[in-house]
Amino acid sequence: MPRSQAETPENETNSHAQKALSLDPWEAAYLRFETPEEEIQKFIGRLNRLGAPQWPRDAEIVELFCGRGNGLIALQRLGFTRIEGVDLSPRLLAQFKGSAKCTVADCRRLPFTDRSKDILIVQGGLHHLPALPGDLDQTFSEMQRALRKDGRVMFVEPWRTPFLTFVHLISEIPAVRRISRKMDAFASMTEYEIRTYEQWLGQPELIKKIARAHFVPVHEHVGWGKWNFVGTPR
Ligand SMILES: C[S@@+](CC[C@H](N)C(=O)[O-])C[C@H]1O[C@@H](n2cnc3c(N)ncnc32)[C@H](O)[C@@H]1O
Repeated sequence: MPRSQAETPENETNSHAQKALSLDPWEAAYLRFETPEEEIQKFIGRLNRLGAPQWPRDAEIVELFCGRGNGLIALQRLGFTRIEGVDLSPRLLAQFKGSAKCTVADCRRLPFTDRSKDILIVQGGLHHLPALPGDLDQTFSEMQRALRKDGRVMFVEPWRTPFLTFVHLISEIPAVRRISRKMDAFASMTEYEIRTYEQWLGQPELIKKIARAHFVPVHEHVGWGKWNFVGTPR
């Protein structure tokens, strides 16, 4: 049987090109940085290290700033059954093929009622907020409002460490960018998000202070260019 028109390699290429065209340059670099499976494995490792084995499997969990949703797939693979995602980009959410409910919304105004969620997760989203400290304070206030009293937050965000500085230096070398898809995508993402990224990396004490004003830390550590924070709402 002949392949239908929609299945020809040419059409497939065109449809990928169209999808890529509709993404903004930062989004296109983010999609190139890791394969979905690499991302899912990274998220599973983090969740296991940051306490997920102890969370009830029917906890109501929302991944905020969830992008294309591979963190939601990781949660699903770990056996969690009530999972949702929120992201500002309809283009990235459109890439999500899992069963979790995803909502296009700004995390500075969460579309949830008070005290309705058990666990809120953010991985690599807070450093995209345009204004510090105002937007961070507002996002944390919203998270605090949406969480049940015994709820949890988990953040994993970039942090200036010698390792991060080294990775940036390497990723900016043109020869490295030519041979490594990952390094090239990393350098491109950094270029496109430079304003909010530098603003974020430049204020570690302020960020920790705002986090502690909203959440009691249960676990906190910095390593390998990341700030890892798990807390309960005040
Ligand atoms: C670095 S990506 C992280 C995506 C995902 N958590 C991951 O680690 O793959 C940052 C995401 O934040 C989203 N974003 C930026 N500002 C936002 C906002 N105010 N509210 C919701 N999402 C936002 C972007 O659309 C993007 O998908």
